[in-house]
Parts: sequence; structure tokens; C-alpha cells
Amino acid sequence: MMLVKKESCIGCGICVKDCFPQDIEIIEGKAEIHNVTCMNCGHCIAVCPRNAVISDKLDMNMVKEYNQEEFSLDADHLLNFIKFRRTVRQFKAKEVPQDLILKIIEAGRFTQTGSNSQNVAYTVVEKELNKLKELTYVSLKDIGETMLRDPKMAGSPVLRYAGMWVRMLEDYHRDPKKNDRLFFNAPTVIVISAASVVDATLAASNMELMTNALGLGTFFSGFFVRAAQNNPELQQLLEIKEGHQISLCMIIGYPAVTYYRTVPRKEADISWK
Ligand SMILES: Cc1cc2nc3c(=O)[nH]c(=O)nc-3n(C[C@H](O)[C@H](O)[C@H](O)COP(=O)(O)O)c2cc1C
Repeated sequence: MMLVKKESCIGCGICVKDCFPQDIEIIEGKAEIHNVTCMNCGHCIAVCPRNAVISDKLDMNMVKEYNQEEFSLDADHLLNFIKFRRTVRQFKAKEVPQDLILKIIEAGRFTQTGSNSQNVAYTVVEKELNKLKELTYVSLKDIGETMLRDPKMAGSPVLRYAGMWVRMLEDYHRDPKKNDRLFFNAPTVIVISAASVVDATLAASNMELMTNALGLGTFFSGFFVRAAQNNPELQQLLEIKEGHQISLCMIIGYPAVTYYRTVPRKEADISWK
């Protein structure tokens, strides 16, 4: 529940104006939060000039007062950071410390979710990575073989992957270090699952930025998601929650590659109406 500290509230109504679900009223000069339509988004906490709103459900110790020095980001600097970001597929044989992994997940946790559902889950795979790899390679081989047998797939551009997936398992078994074309010998995998793929994707995007800010490298494995989505063994290993779907997979480690510049991109497809 959201609660108003009546002694601090001055009844200014700023929280009423900013409350999207219209759950707050000024009664006898004080804000009253009904907690009926409230979605615990915390706007009333953030917007109150008197810091008069608290949540009795969430830890208020994580709330930080704004200060420009720590909270602002130069726009051009941010854009350069986004432009310089690269998919990293070469990793050092070096573990990622747990505090860095938690910081990456923190960037996901504080990302917005539809209706403030905060229903995104993160599975970090390190100890069971070899098991995960084996199941993934086998799953993709099966998917590839099924696609190659399917006459309806004839001419599909996806078929170029099918042949590759079939070969990958054999190559991996022959030399797992040299031929790890799915995980590239990275030490850490984070699988992001959610009821909403959009929520998971937004979280993942911020997590990727944080990964780079920490001096780590990452890539999103669409191949892994394809392998895991309808695979009960992988779902079981990852303990995916009821109602959640595996949405993204981040492969993370210390980069063993240096990029010197940004890359060109297609013009943005914009229409002004
Ligand atoms: C949704 C998604 C799925 C991807 N899947 C894979 C993958 O399975 N394997 C891989 O090596 N790279 C994968 N990538 C990386 C893309 O190939 C890469 O982002 C793209 O080539 C542009 O390169 P850049 O990220 O360095 O700008 C994926 C990227 C995204 C956004």
C-alpha cells in the first residue's frame, strides 16, 4: 500500500495530478491514497516535494534523492555510447564477478513494465552452463532437421540456418572450445523471461547498456531463444515460471576484442505527419 505521512503532507495536490490511475484525492487539506486503482508505480513517492509518501510493501531504503551530479547524463555522450556498443562474440577465459551480474540485473529491475507489473525474471547460468549448451545444441539440431524435412519450408530464407544448426552439434562435440558457435566460450548466460516479451525486451536493452558500462561484453542469442522456447528440458533446467516465456538470452563475459570506431547504419525510416 502507498501511505501518506499526514504530518508531512501540505495538500499541494501535485501527487493527485501525476497519479495516472487517479487513486489520490485531497481530503481536508491532505492527500488520501485509496489504494484501489493504485499500481504501485511510485510516482506519488517521486513527485512529492515534501517526501510525504511511503510504501509499506517495498523497501524505502532503495529510494534515492535526486542530485544532478549523480543523475544526469550528457545527451551526446549517451548517443556515442549507444553508437559504439557492439555485439561481442569473443570472450576472455575470465569469470564475471557476482556483484557485476547483480548490477546488470539491477538495470533490468528498474526498467519500466506495462501496468508496472514488474513481472520479469532472470536466470543466471554459470555452474550448469555445459548442460545448457548441450541441450541447446541438440534442440537446434532437431529444429534444423525438422525444417529441412518440411516441404513447406522450401525456399524460406530461414533454411540457411537449418543446415548450420544441424552441423553445429557435431562440430561442438568434436571440439567444444573451438566450435562453440552458440555461446562463444562466455562464462555467464542470463535468460530473461516474462509474461510480456515487451517488458523483457525493454529490461534487456538497459541491461545491455549496463553490461557495456561495466566494461563487459555481451550479445543477445536469438538462436538460444529459438532452441529453448518449446523445449521442456531447457525450460525445466531454467525453472521458467508458469505463464512466463523465454524472451531473451544474454551471453556475457569480458571482451577479447577491441573496436576502434562506430559502424554506419541505414537511414532512419521516419515519416512526419
Ligand atoms: C534479437 C536479437 C537476436 C540475436 N541473435 C543472435 C544470435 O543468435 N547469435 C549471434 O551471434 N548474434 C545474435 N544477435 C546479434 C546481431 O547479429 C547483431 O546485433 C547485429 O549483427 C548488429 O551488430 P551490432 O550489435 O554489433 O551492432 C542478435 C541480436 C538481436 C537484437
